[in-house]
Amino acid sequence: MTDTTVDRAQDRATAHLRPAAHFTARDTWLNDPNGLVLHDGTWHLFFQNNPHGATHGNMSWGHATSDDLVSWTEQPVAIRHTATEEIFSGSAVVDEKNTAGFAGPGQTALVAVYTSAYRPAHPTLAGRQAQSLAYSLDDGRTWTRYAGNPVLDRGSADFRDPKVFWYDGEDGEGHWVMVAVEATDRQVVMYRSADLKHWEHLSTFGPAHATGGVWECPDLFPLPVRGTRRTRWVMIVSLNPGGVAGGSGAQYFVGDFDGTTFTPERPGDGPHGADWLDHGRDYYAPVSFNGVSDGRRLTVGWASNWDYANETPTSPWRSTMSLARELTLVRTSDGRDRVAQRPVLPEEAREGLSVHELRLPADGRRRHEIVLHGDGPDEVVLTVDAAARTLVSDRRRSGDTAFHPAFPSVDTAPLHDVGETVDVTVVVDGCVLEVYACGGLTTLTQVVFPTAPLTQVAVRETTAG
Ligand code: FRU
Repeated sequence: MTDTTVDRAQDRATAHLRPAAHFTARDTWLNDPNGLVLHDGTWHLFFQNNPHGATHGNMSWGHATSDDLVSWTEQPVAIRHTATEEIFSGSAVVDEKNTAGFAGPGQTALVAVYTSAYRPAHPTLAGRQAQSLAYSLDDGRTWTRYAGNPVLDRGSADFRDPKVFWYDGEDGEGHWVMVAVEATDRQVVMYRSADLKHWEHLSTFGPAHATGGVWECPDLFPLPVRGTRRTRWVMIVSLNPGGVAGGSGAQYFVGDFDGTTFTPERPGDGPHGADWLDHGRDYYAPVSFNGVSDGRRLTVGWASNWDYANETPTSPWRSTMSLARELTLVRTSDGRDRVAQRPVLPEEAREGLSVHELRLPADGRRRHEIVLHGDGPDEVVLTVDAAARTLVSDRRRSGDTAFHPAFPSVDTAPLHDVGETVDVTVVVDGCVLEVYACGGLTTLTQVVFPTAPLTQVAVRETTAG
């Protein structure tokens, strides 16, 4: 057999694992979502991509577009690595006011702010990470690097993942704000700029709450508290390792941003003294879209874990994004404002995936096991224990689990504000399972590699205790 024959056989063997509504690259590797932006009615998803293979390396910005956030079309690579520079994570803005001066008359520039990870071959900046710009004058199709790159260099080897957003401020003029990380210091550094090219330091946040790994991919945005007129600021910080389920995970802070400093309102109350955006093994680097003017805060995350991301058994593609999620804050009965999430999944997009919406009685004596299975022997068991206020996922018999020792796992999520019933929505799409419970106050995302898709569900009742 030639290598190609082997590859083709593996493609067929894992075709059922490719999701329909979760984005995957056609035949290459992806990790973090980058440059999420809505422009002229088109959703743009850029992503960490190896254009030459299915493992992490040669980092570049891949590109996909969508009209509805569930059906994605892969576009040509947007910003390519070179012999001296890899293109690490970052964000994109619509420069409506042409603050950077990249647009000509009648044009609007999309500007990407990304991390230049300089390779050993770079003559002066080898080993450093600094922030750079690229711009597009044709709706994201083609990109030009700014000649003055990098625009922000702290002389650091771990300064990355800039998220830039427009901040209206008090002066009525507004300016750009950047949050980025000094990853190994577990700090978020904040800057402001009038033109995206010159940056002034505002403040530094952290280390705080979960600090068991490097801090990566921060985001900062205002979020309304549902049912009130109040708005809080939410900061997301991913960390690896030290995540809630082991390996990579994403924590969030609720607090205030006064234009200079972010102040969290309280300690976290979950494991590692943090609040977690998701309790599964496979939810990392979530960031939100720029350019959304209808008030929604929409995020996409990467559905994998650095513990085993390079070894997951699919071919010729590897790794998938999460669904887009809409975030709000909900005040729970303990007086805390917590992030609640719901997937963007219109009725017409549900074909080809299985969505199970369950409402289970929470009488304290019974536990419920939601068994996801297919035609083969593989299964994932989700146990809802209303008395213990937990949702536990067991994927130890979910199919191919042997490719990495950290993969076969049992993961626990807390349930908040349990009333007479617990609502659970499970989305099964190829190799991805997303679980939303208690009005989205709890989510648990994970990947699985069964021999046949886990499209069916059975609910078993057991006695607790
Ligand atoms: C997070 C991350 C980022 C970095 C990128 C490199 O998963 O490590 O910090 O920019 O991936 O691909």
